[in-house]
Formats: sequence, C-alpha cells, structure tokens
Amino acid sequence: LFTIYTLNGATNKMPSFETSGGPVLVPMFVSDGMVHQLFTVTGRTDASGCTLSQPDFTTAAAAGNLVFRQPIPLFGDGFIDIIRDSDILANLNSNLASKQALGIGGRPNINHADNLIMRFGWKAGVKSLLEMAALEAQIHKGVTNDFFPNELDETAGCVFNPVPEDGNNYDVTDRTQPARDQFADDVHNAANFTRLLDQPVPAVALGTSVGQTQFNNVGCVLCHTQSFTTPNSTTLANGFNCRKGPCSNPVTINPFSDFVLHHMGPCLADGIVDGDAQGDEWRTAPLWNVGQRGFFLHDGRTRDIVAAIQAHSCAGNATYPPSEANAVIANFNALTAANQQALVNFLRKL
Ligand code: HEC
Repeated sequence: LFTIYTLNGATNKMPSFETSGGPVLVPMFVSDGMVHQLFTVTGRTDASGCTLSQPDFTTAAAAGNLVFRQPIPLFGDGFIDIIRDSDILANLNSNLASKQALGIGGRPNINHADNLIMRFGWKAGVKSLLEMAALEAQIHKGVTNDFFPNELDETAGCVFNPVPEDGNNYDVTDRTQPARDQFADDVHNAANFTRLLDQPVPAVALGTSVGQTQFNNVGCVLCHTQSFTTPNSTTLANGFNCRKGPCSNPVTINPFSDFVLHHMGPCLADGIVDGDAQGDEWRTAPLWNVGQRGFFLHDGRTRDIVAAIQAHSCAGNATYPPSEANAVIANFNALTAANQQALVNFLRKL
C-alpha cells in the first residue's frame, strides 16, 4: 500500500489505521454495511479530469461507524471449498448434549440462491473459492472482472478503462485453435493458485499433546472442530493436481473450524449483516496455521493469542445475546496455569 498510494501523482492520504507494521485493514461502514475504498485515482497523470474524494474515515470513526476486517490466510482453501454441506450439518448436530450444557449453538450462513452453505470470509458470507477471488479483485483491488464487470464508482470522467479490466484473453483472430491460456483471467488464476495450496502441517502430531487434551476438555473443540473429510475430488489431493495422478482421495483435513456462525457477544460484534449473519455472528475462525499468524480476530485487534481467547468472553446487552463461548472461556480460566500454557503452546504449533 505504501508504495502505490501516491503513484503517478495520486493525491491520496494514507488513512491513519493503515500502518507499516500491519495488519492491513479493510474498512467498512456500519451505516451501509459496505467496504469503502481506501484510495482514488484523483491526481494521477493517467486520470486527468477526474476528481473523487477519499471516504471521510475520521468522521466515520468518531461516529462509531468504522469497523475493520483483516485478510484471512489462504492455505487449504481448496479443501474448504468442497467440504460437503451434509458433513458441516452432521458436525453441527454432533455432541449436542455437551454443546447445550455450555450454551453453544451455531447455524450455517445459507446462500439463498441454491440453499447451500457458504463458508468463506469472517462471516461465512462467500460461497466458493472462485467467488472469493472475484470479490477480492473487485472490492479490495478495484479490478472489474468477468464475475463483477461493473465499476464500483462510475462517476463521469473517472472511468478510463473498458470493462471488465480483468477478462479472458481470447483473441478473435485465433478462433479456430484458441490456446487454453487465452481463457485464463487473473481471477481464475488466483483461485487455482489458492486451490492448490496444501493445508498447513501442524508442528505437533495431533492427538498427542497435553495442550490439545485441554483444548478438547474445556470445549474449544466444540466450535473449533478438528477434522473434516473432503469428498473425492477431480482436482485436489493434499495440494496436488489429481488429473495427473496418483491421488489419495478422500483427504482428511484439520481446519479446527465448524464453518458455521456463532453469536460472540457485543464485544466482538461489528454491526455488519452479511447474508444470514447478524452483527454479532462470526464464523468459527479456522485455527490451522494460527501459530504463524501476526494478528488475531476479524479486525486484527490483538497480537496476543491469550487476549484473543479472552475476547471470546462477553456478557450480552440490549442488542446482542451473550457470547456462546462464555462457559468455555470460564473453563479455560479455571485450568491450572500449566495447563493454560500447554493449551497455548498447542495453538502455537498449529
Ligand atoms: C462458540 C464457539 C467458539 C468457542 C467455544 C471457541 N471459539 Fe475461538 N473463535 C470462534 C469464533 C467465531 C472466532 C472468530 C471471532 C472473531 O474474529 O471475531 C474465533 C477465533 C479464535 C481465535 C483467533 C483466530 C484468528 O484467526 O484470529 C483463536 C486463537 C481462538 N478462537 C481460540 C479458541 C480457544 C483456545 C478456545 C477455547 C478456550 C476457543 N477459541 C473457543 C468461536 C469459538
């Protein structure tokens, strides 16, 4: 961001919430539930005549209207893409007595076009890996594409490129024998790159550590489900392309998520509605690779993994019910210091 925001004469100011040490934050306004663009093309030598203002983040912040999302790691997303809905539902409906005793519910974020379960993004509001790549191009990078061909801002005098900016490269003079790569746009390339990223490999054998035993005993595992088994796939097997074989399908993955939404209380609520997800509902964050992460929770609010655990605990208010994780965090707090440390050490090895 810091190398491009004033490129070619652009007059942008860096918003105060973007710092060189990270995390990179995507700003959203509660009032309209939308991502707001950090920068404009105003002032660029290749955008003469265009005048657009950057959003007024300072006023929005003062009015409590500004909330943030940080990026989510992509490892293993090809597997998440193909987990069966029936497996997500069966997992949601397992261990019901334990979940009820601890106040844990959960529900999927349903895509009402096909009635199937969405599973990507902090609120599980995105259906597929390909859709996520297309959204990323349009909303985060401002690049129109075959999925989302319309400019976010169509202000007269500010639209310089034909749409979509990222399309296929099909050459009409080549129509008798078009090459395959003529059809590959950046969105598909990005999705395919991500699809073939393997799941993170934990630095400890799962099921062997004292820390994981604590994680299971206090109830973290009731939301952060250890494993799913993906169905046979034409393209995936532990990160390799199956079309060239040999493949070992199906694959057991260890995402440590149930991929459904939970009420997490007013302390984590951001007031943004995303599909069925309400302002206080979040997808259980997958914990694979959490030991390598620099910032935790949807808005990257802490670098301290214990603070991230404690942030799960929150009383209800007039708007939102209490967090579904309250009893589990009370169990965590009741552990001996040694067992708490073992649990944290386990997370750091994921
Ligand atoms: C009721 C379900 C639920 C329970 C129980 C639960 N979590 Fe979570 N966890 C979540 C959700 C939802 C998030 C994402 C919240 C957000 O970003 O606002 C999350 C996020 C996290 C994160 C941050 C991950 C990231 O990528 O930033 C960590 C670490 C974590 N949980 C650890 C734990 C541990 C350890 C326990 C047990 C002591 C636990 N969780 C119990 C639902 C749960």
